[in-house]
Amino acid sequence: MTSGRVIHNLALVGFMGTGKSSVGQLVAAQLHFRFADTDELIEARAGKTISAIFTGEGEPQFREYERAVVDELKNFHRTVVATGGGLVTSEENLNSLKTHALVICLWAAPETIWERVRNQTHRPLLQASDPLAKIRQLLAEREPFYRRADVLVSTDLRSLKEVVHHVIHQFRLARGHPSHP
Ligand code: S3P
Repeated sequence: MTSGRVIHNLALVGFMGTGKSSVGQLVAAQLHFRFADTDELIEARAGKTISAIFTGEGEPQFREYERAVVDELKNFHRTVVATGGGLVTSEENLNSLKTHALVICLWAAPETIWERVRNQTHRPLLQASDPLAKIRQLLAEREPFYRRADVLVSTDLRSLKEVVHHVIHQFRLARGHPSHP
């Protein structure tokens, strides 16, 4: 991790369906931090759902809302933030998060992701004729960005509880307060 950083917050990044929101809420509760979700902040600011933004205004405008929310996060303290799956494909967004947060990427294989999201309909980027192929393609394109996180946590073979435990351990280590097993 880059030295000289002040870590007030914890940012969870990674592909759709890797568990950022579920993990983030449990981590926040255990750390006695607040929980925020960039998609929810965008929906509140825009007054419409993510799907409606993609349909009505297009992806570039959605990315602009995302950039504005990333800017707002600089003023957050003691917060666990779950970020939208494409947010860190902007280097500027990732660098901004790193100024105040430890950035942890949750990782999963395309097949695991597909199992987790196949019954959900709220993700416009997965409304494709072959969603698994789309997941494979997007994940391959985004992997170099996800690898720039401070910590990479694989969720494929871990239970939710184990992922939460691991994330908290990494966060405490980064802040210089290791948790005792
Ligand atoms: C997106 C992921 C979604 C949401 C939007 C775009 C992406 O968030 O921000 O649909 O580009 O991967 P989740 O990762 O929370 O599903």
